[in-house]
Amino acid sequence: MSQDNIVDTSKPSAGRMYDYFLGGHHNFEVDRQAAARILSLLPFTAKYMRLQRWPLQDIAVELSEKRGFDVIIDFASGLPTNDHLHLKVKPETTVIYSDYDPVVVEYTHEILENTPNTYFFQSDARRPEELINKPEVQTLLGGRRKVALVYWGVSLFLTDDDIAHAAKFLYDWAAPGSCLAFNVQAADINLQDPAMIKVLNIYEQMGNHLSIRSLKQCEELLKPWKLEKEGFIPLLEWNGFDKSELGKEDVTAFGPMGGGYGGYLTK
Ligand SMILES: C[S@@+](CC[C@H](N)C(=O)[O-])C[C@H]1O[C@@H](n2cnc3c(N)ncnc32)[C@H](O)[C@@H]1O
Repeated sequence: MSQDNIVDTSKPSAGRMYDYFLGGHHNFEVDRQAAARILSLLPFTAKYMRLQRWPLQDIAVELSEKRGFDVIIDFASGLPTNDHLHLKVKPETTVIYSDYDPVVVEYTHEILENTPNTYFFQSDARRPEELINKPEVQTLLGGRRKVALVYWGVSLFLTDDDIAHAAKFLYDWAAPGSCLAFNVQAADINLQDPAMIKVLNIYEQMGNHLSIRSLKQCEELLKPWKLEKEGFIPLLEWNGFDKSELGKEDVTAFGPMGGGYGGYLTK
């Protein structure tokens, strides 16, 4: 892939930094430098990112095998590397990935090549109607509207209006019985923590204003989707760890449960 003609490599990108935090190699020097600055301020960040990424495999099994969905539509997918949904779903499940970052889309062609039943489209998670209404997606769906939807690792990048709009559109479009897996990022991080303030500024300078909100606020924005009775589960617990995994400084900056939560909502 020719990097120069598709991206300005002089600027770090949050998506490629995420790849670097996860140990991937789809990133540039400028991303690694920005990520290193963040790690020097908040070393827990790499672990936070892994805690966020790991549940995707569990979600794949839950949605396809346990709940029987044969279509999963994933928004803001990032890179579909070998820890993503399509490698854990039951055979014949259609996985429709999407991301708005042209670099992600470009890398995706290399990563997926001819992987069966797995598709990737460039699309903006703020306007899910654009993905759903693409003629290629309509063909893949073949009229199916009872689907599993995933918004994982993206809530920080969306405004309240973005989330409310996406939730409403998808609720109106999807058939009863559909399910939405949603990740609330950084719900109880400490906005007074000096290191956290510096990290948020790094993202701000990259052009990413991060929207931090509580679990309750998210649940409200996602209505009329109904959060299942388990509620939003701390990702620490989701991944089978307990609080002893967090050091004092981690708790001070990221909150008592490490910051990230996830849950299932249904129509
Ligand atoms: C932290 S990664 C999450 C990737 C994956 N969903 C996960 O949880 O591991 C965030 C991704 O969201 C994408 N993203 C951010 N805002 C977006 C938007 N409005 N529409 C589509 N993708 C977006 C970025 O390009 C990046 O690839």
